[in-house]
Amino acid sequence: MAKKKAEGYLSGREARRISKENRRITNEFEKQHKRKNVPESEYLTEMRDPNNTVEFDNLHTYFFTDAGTVKAVDGVSFEVPIGKTVGVVGESGCGKSVTSLSLMQLLQRPQGQVVEGSIRLNLGDKAYDVTKMPTEKMQHLRGNFMSMIFQEPMTSLNPVFRIGDQVDEVIALHHGEGKTKDQIKARTIELLEMVGIANSEGVYRMYPHELSGGMRQRVMIAMALACSPRLIIADEPTTALDVTIQAQVLDLLRNLKDKINSSIMFITHDLGVIAEMADYVVVMYAGRVVEKGTVEEIFHHPSHPYTIGLMASKPVVGKQVDKLYSIPGKVPNPINMPNYCYFKDRCEMCVAGCEGEYPHEVSLSPTHKVSCYRYYDNAEKGGER
Ligand SMILES: Nc1ncnc2c1ncn2[C@@H]1O[C@H](COP(=O)(O)OP(=O)(O)OP(=O)(O)O)[C@@H](O)[C@H]1O
Ligand SMILES: [Mg+2]
Repeated sequence: MAKKKAEGYLSGREARRISKENRRITNEFEKQHKRKNVPESEYLTEMRDPNNTVEFDNLHTYFFTDAGTVKAVDGVSFEVPIGKTVGVVGESGCGKSVTSLSLMQLLQRPQGQVVEGSIRLNLGDKAYDVTKMPTEKMQHLRGNFMSMIFQEPMTSLNPVFRIGDQVDEVIALHHGEGKTKDQIKARTIELLEMVGIANSEGVYRMYPHELSGGMRQRVMIAMALACSPRLIIADEPTTALDVTIQAQVLDLLRNLKDKINSSIMFITHDLGVIAEMADYVVVMYAGRVVEKGTVEEIFHHPSHPYTIGLMASKPVVGKQVDKLYSIPGKVPNPINMPNYCYFKDRCEMCVAGCEGEYPHEVSLSPTHKVSCYRYYDNAEKGGER
């Protein structure tokens, strides 16, 4: 008797078919990445606005897994202006890390691939499109132009090397030419002091397990700042830290940013941190940007029902409530996204038109944009788009 198959169940045969198809697709992408001697003209591009450091434009990043294609990032567009901090918020799994890893070309390959869209980097005299750059060229940009502070410092530091050696290596790799060992060490000590490590000589000789979580995160920040990058990507840099250390690390990042006038892309699901750090906020939901604006616009006039829910679910000092609001339902399966608004099934503010296809972006101000049918004008609600 044939057993009724549970939803999402894949037969062995089906899984093999998917995996063969995946290999075919990813091999094509890998061939592009691995090309040598690619002329610069292939990835030269123009910034839409020269005041931006990075512009994400309709970015699609998929993972080709044996269970199906995970559309982790599915049409993300936003920019990071020079000298500003952009906060990226959204619940776990919405594609925040994948967006930043796409920018660094550090996706888990071959299954993770940028399949569409561009990421433009402003190098001052010219602009590059990261999605078209071969892997061998990325090394020059990572560290020098942009660097990343990862979610979990213990996994990013090598446990078998001393802290000093690890920071030295970063400096030697990017700015080591013509420098003696002592000069490199002096720079490492200077960096460790800059990030507020008092016992810098001692820490220089320690192994990662001998440091506290906060100190490890500071070392990570020191490494990220070693080459004064123009863009710092901080992926939940304070999640693993307690609140007082968190405040210190945030202060540190802010001061350093001002010192070297770089931009920060700050990823977190902590709205308090965003309010404190960011100039602009991008709200992501299920692989797409649902709302973006200045920090005042997002905090004082949240417009997308998801953002409104997020704001209502954060505790406010001095305001007494019986129970904090929680958004009902759950995020749709990223392998099988609906063809209507991804938030519709959880939304408590649906209007006429919501059953139509995914809503386009509506401008509420020159900086404030939201993808929601509630802000369509009446003619559009008929749903031609
Ligand atoms: N290597 C991978 N293979 C398959 N799917 C992946 C891989 N990495 C990420 N994903 C999927 O991509 C989606 C987005 O993941 P991402 O790590 O960007 O989430 P996030 O917003 O950073 O969440 P968090 O707040 O928990 O860090 C998730 O559905 C995740 O399962
Ligand atoms: Mg993440």
